[in-house]
Amino acid sequence: MQSSAKTGGALAKGSSTAGRWPGVFSVIESELAQVKLLIEGDLSDSSEPVRGLVAYANAGKGKMIRPGLVLLSGLACGGVTENHIKTAAIFEIIHNATLLHDDVVDEGKSRRGVPTVNSIHGNESAVLLGDFLLGRVIRMCVGLGDRVSEIIAVASMRTCEGELRQISQRGNWLLSEPEYIEIIAGKTAALFEGACAAGAVLAGADESTMQALASYGRNVGIAFQITDDLLDLVGEQDKTGKPAGNDLDRDKLTLPLIHLLKTAGEAEKQKAKRILSQQNGDSGRMELVARLNTCGSIEYAKRRAEEFVEQAIVTIAGVGDNRGSKSLVEAARFITSRTA
Ligand code: IPE
Ligand code: IPE
Ligand code: MG
Ligand code: MG
Repeated sequence: MQSSAKTGGALAKGSSTAGRWPGVFSVIESELAQVKLLIEGDLSDSSEPVRGLVAYANAGKGKMIRPGLVLLSGLACGGVTENHIKTAAIFEIIHNATLLHDDVVDEGKSRRGVPTVNSIHGNESAVLLGDFLLGRVIRMCVGLGDRVSEIIAVASMRTCEGELRQISQRGNWLLSEPEYIEIIAGKTAALFEGACAAGAVLAGADESTMQALASYGRNVGIAFQITDDLLDLVGEQDKTGKPAGNDLDRDKLTLPLIHLLKTAGEAEKQKAKRILSQQNGDSGRMELVARLNTCGSIEYAKRRAEEFVEQAIVTIAGVGDNRGSKSLVEAARFITSRTA
């Protein structure tokens, strides 16, 4: 394991993606700053290798979407409390743990603009650090109440289930759109759903309002992952902080490809499969993107993401017109136009 001085140096070179969510979280800016402090500050009783690695792995450098959703859901349902700050930190820490594990599973080389923990320190450290973070979350849940603790636990379990489901479908060229949606509803949208539900519960929302927020989170989470998958095909590493093409390298079928393999003629399908099997890096990816564009598959995936966003917005129509709900609508719309 390397020293924290080394990891800190690499971090300094990385670029934060957090600032690229303009305006969306402005109404909760000061609360989000408190969340970041909580994430970074509660490590005083940890030993140095852990502190250095955690600082390297998260350091508040992500977009902070899940904590943002806890806070905005709280604001939409009556107000943000101390427990919202704590719960927001919890969701971000779980997210950071899943990223550490995901980068092991996907052999990810770069994240948030810097080399991944697994690529610098090896899989063992990345897995154990993720486990450490999950332990930290369990400790933080003390005092939050049964309902919120259960929401947090279920969200984490469903995230892992989704990742496992994805692994079991790797290389399955017959994967259907509903099966793909089921995968991403687990691996990504479960945390979005839980974040919004917990934010609502902590603000004292009634059952139907809580369900509306949960459904908003689920739909936004699905749209978020469809967009992430599009960025894996057509995004720029300078903006996303991670290399494009990882899904193709890992034989992960995502929506544009699912669309092409379902709708295109036999010759086109064979061409796409040939490109995939050749694993030609960036040039193969560009060739595939050209085919996907020709078949309307990129456009189709964008449209599906927008439909999930619109569905999300519809579900919170009854929550009331306030700063929180307005920002939730804005956040949902921003999801599909993001480039980072
Ligand atoms: C990355 O999530 C993992 C996915 C679910 C696609 P984010 O894009 O929210 O990651 P950070 O926290 O901003 O780095
Ligand atoms: C989301 O999927 C990962 C998690 C749910 C942790 P991806 O594998 O697409 O996420 P990135 O692209 O590595 O961030
Ligand atoms: Mg990944
Ligand atoms: Mg991805």
